[in-house]
Amino acid sequence: MITLTEVIEVERPVEACFRYVSDFRTTVEWDATAVAASKLSPGPVGKGSHFSVLCKAGPTKLALDYCITESTPWQSVVLEGTSRFFTVKDVITFEALGDDQTRITYIAEFRARYGLGLLERNAAAGLQKMGRASLRGLAKALTDRNPTPSASAETEQKDSNLATALACFTRYGHRRGRRQWLPMSSDMTGKHVLLTGANAGLGFSTAVSLLEAGATLTVVIRDPGKLDSMQQAFEAETGRQADRVELADLSLMHDVNTLCQKLLDQGEAIDVLINNAGALFNDYAETQEGLERSAALLLLSPWRLTEQLRPLLRCSAAPARVINVVSGGMYTQKLHCDDLIMSENDYDGTVAYARAKRALTVLTEHWAQQWAGDNIVVNSMHPGWADTPGVQNALPGFRRVTKKVLRTPDEGADTVIWLARATEADQLTGKLFLDREPRTTHLRARTRENEGERGRLPEWLSDTYDALALDAEG
Ligand SMILES: NC(=O)c1ccc[n+]([C@@H]2O[C@H](COP(=O)([O-])OP(=O)(O)OC[C@H]3O[C@@H](n4cnc5c(N)ncnc54)[C@H](OP(=O)(O)O)[C@@H]3O)[C@@H](O)[C@H]2O)c1
Repeated sequence: MITLTEVIEVERPVEACFRYVSDFRTTVEWDATAVAASKLSPGPVGKGSHFSVLCKAGPTKLALDYCITESTPWQSVVLEGTSRFFTVKDVITFEALGDDQTRITYIAEFRARYGLGLLERNAAAGLQKMGRASLRGLAKALTDRNPTPSASAETEQKDSNLATALACFTRYGHRRGRRQWLPMSSDMTGKHVLLTGANAGLGFSTAVSLLEAGATLTVVIRDPGKLDSMQQAFEAETGRQADRVELADLSLMHDVNTLCQKLLDQGEAIDVLINNAGALFNDYAETQEGLERSAALLLLSPWRLTEQLRPLLRCSAAPARVINVVSGGMYTQKLHCDDLIMSENDYDGTVAYARAKRALTVLTEHWAQQWAGDNIVVNSMHPGWADTPGVQNALPGFRRVTKKVLRTPDEGADTVIWLARATEADQLTGKLFLDREPRTTHLRARTRENEGERGRLPEWLSDTYDALALDAEG
């Protein structure tokens, strides 16, 4: 048997350390050898949780299956791991040294399988070195002081060419981006997040992750028939349900206004607002308020929601974060305010969708500038191409062709989660992100809007709203 013992002290509360370390998916962020990690069992992290961790082992990779065999919150966790060649028992204890300081003692006992005693003796020095490097990594991850996000030179190079930029939208883009990611150990306990479109696709993945991170979650969905199954799915995945569920058809400004009034009356500060709900409509239709529905749902709705909730965003203790989910489709379109509402005669769903997302990207930049003094950061992100119910329903042909390279919903949602959670993600405002890096908002010179159109957009939104057939209460 080889035993490694390492001790680190970090300036974080014991609860945050315990939660971060117990969730062995985080090993990719700090373990010197881990290259991938996933949770195999549903439910909250605790006794009985299973993880798969893929580690570098010389020229090859080795899969380890871990199980939490003992867990005493805030005090200790024991994980037992099995691989082809050895078993390992990790005993991790946590000791609060003050409100914000914790000592972590990590003891790992390796046992070779199949009588590989000689290998065990030879491996000792390598394991000791790896153990020390991993605990240094853990201390750094828990210190949670990452630099201001910036695009790497390689990413800028990729974005300078249309083909390589589009390749970044695929799962391989996510894989490439992931190699550069820094640890995300921040805790969201006490943070109030408002998330639209949480019952499916990217919104569902986002909700699960934010519940796991401890956020207080208010979700907005439109279909009461989906409420119970959504909450059951949250509970099964995380052991928690969304704290509040609001019902609203966000393509109707009447519903948006009612929702905002309710939230304003409640008066609870919003730390993070995620404008995620969306859909691509292949057929032309107008809402009952008389507005083409792509423009209504994808543009007027997040505009109206965000503007009205500004007082609650201002109440956030830390900089409040607004995250607008846009789309790579917007790279095909230039902002012309007069073209944002397509008529029935010339309607093309993908164009209407892309124009609305382009306008929301410009609006993100506008808000970022206007609201800088309010301690509100506003960013947009696009998820690349992810295999969600939305893509399955609206773009079946595209999905058939691209199925093998589509991202999972979790991969597509990653940057939303990072923008909501990562400590360093509030250091930039008015940016468009993909895979946790700020990216260009134009892949072609011909889509660059002029200052006049940019300046006109807020007024166009107000005028369009004022022209709607809202009833007296709307
Ligand atoms: N998946 C991608 O590859 C991709 C790429 C670029 C951008 N996006 C953007 O990512 C966001 C999420 O898309 P997704 O792919 O996850 O789509 P999705 O699977 O269809 O999920 C969309 C969510 O929005 C909700 N929603 C739709 N219309 C609504 C309305 N009128 N009122 C309230 N909620 C409404 C849906 O509720 P219901 O279940 O009731 O319909 C659902 O919860 C969208 O803004 C989309 O434009 C996605």
